[in-house]
Amino acid sequence: MGKIIKKNKGVRPLLGEKHIWLPYTQMKNHLPQLEVKTAKGSKIFLKDGSVLIDGIASWWSVAHGYNHPHIISEIIKQAKLLPHVMLAGMANETTYKLAHRLCKFSAMDRVFFSDSGSTAIEVAMKIAWQLHINSGNSGEKNKTKFISFKNSYHGDTTGAMSLADMSDGMHQKFEKLLLKNFSLQLPQNKNDLKKFEQFIVKNKTILAGIFIEPLVQCAGGMRFHEAKILHEIFTIAKKHQVIFIADECAVGFYRTGKKFAFNHAKIQPDILVLGKALTGGTMTLAATLVTKKIFEKFSGNSLDLALMHGPTFMGNALACAAANASLDLFEKENYEQKTLEIEKILKTELEKCRNLKGVKDVRSFGAIGVVEISADRKKIISLRKKFIAAGIFLRPFGDCIYIMPALTIKKSELKKITNSIFKILS
Ligand SMILES: Cc1ncc(COP(=O)(O)O)c(C=O)c1O
Repeated sequence: MGKIIKKNKGVRPLLGEKHIWLPYTQMKNHLPQLEVKTAKGSKIFLKDGSVLIDGIASWWSVAHGYNHPHIISEIIKQAKLLPHVMLAGMANETTYKLAHRLCKFSAMDRVFFSDSGSTAIEVAMKIAWQLHINSGNSGEKNKTKFISFKNSYHGDTTGAMSLADMSDGMHQKFEKLLLKNFSLQLPQNKNDLKKFEQFIVKNKTILAGIFIEPLVQCAGGMRFHEAKILHEIFTIAKKHQVIFIADECAVGFYRTGKKFAFNHAKIQPDILVLGKALTGGTMTLAATLVTKKIFEKFSGNSLDLALMHGPTFMGNALACAAANASLDLFEKENYEQKTLEIEKILKTELEKCRNLKGVKDVRSFGAIGVVEISADRKKIISLRKKFIAAGIFLRPFGDCIYIMPALTIKKSELKKITNSIFKILS
């Protein structure tokens, strides 16, 4: 069973407790942090001896489970050989190999590496923007606005925040700092699609691109849309020559049962953004992939046409070794099957929560299960404590209790999570 580490109850405070600043946290009165000693598969071993089953895989990144021996051994090999060398002017085999493999894996043509999902979104924005400037047609230069959708989340950096839904949520207070884009309702039916197309037609001379989280809007509330809607949005974008950017930071790498969520809709984006599970959740690395057609717009005799972007640790060899190892596993093992098995359990087990008091909705898709409840912040905090006391780690947000585990989670572990949710909500 897990326990919350209580401050002043004989547990030594961590060195640095007075210096660290935590994510999305009111530092004055947050729940005590759980001190982790190690982790294996879907189990997190705490310093106080207790063990938690992890239902959210470190923000959905640890696809193969913690400390996968193959990934760890490839990281160690790379660390001994060459942890990092700058990518400007110097090539290393590991990073180049990953570029090749990732393009084959995703059916894209070129990849620009960066550090995190948010920075990869910034890169996608710059590419889509400059693409129009590079076209040489003066009219194209006005194409500076992006479409994104209500409830979407693309990251916390300034550009990425400007793709968020400003009518609500944590980014609202930064509105004056941000680029003005268009945040539209995600179409749900034919009529919505018609209105969406009308919007595109009206604004196409100023549109730089469309950002979408294919099939699942994750951090914005774990909301699903159908593959046929995604297909239609893509078709409309293509019909009016608007760049289509798929942000698969959260849903890429079999989270929805296929390699990529856009595969369900049988489409191929112009730009694809990947992060999180790219390194199997071991290291920070992200990728912005483009088609040949887009890449060619940056090619010419003038440096002015080039993409002027280059993070210090771009293509970090250590992170690329982890990503190559993660791809080995995705290519070798049947991850479609693993996700399908998780989906089956989530569908049957979470369904039991549907008629419980306070439950608004139950839904699941691929390795994502959601129980939506009526809850205020106090209730969410109390739920977090109860889950830990039951020996599971979940971090509900808004009114969502969600499960997004490692794709390798054992059936018994997953059932322990779903049973605990049922019992606690009962
Ligand atoms: C769809 C999506 N895009 C981008 C990001 C940002 O990624 P990162 O936290 O690595 O910057 C996230 C993070 O949750 C995400 O879910």
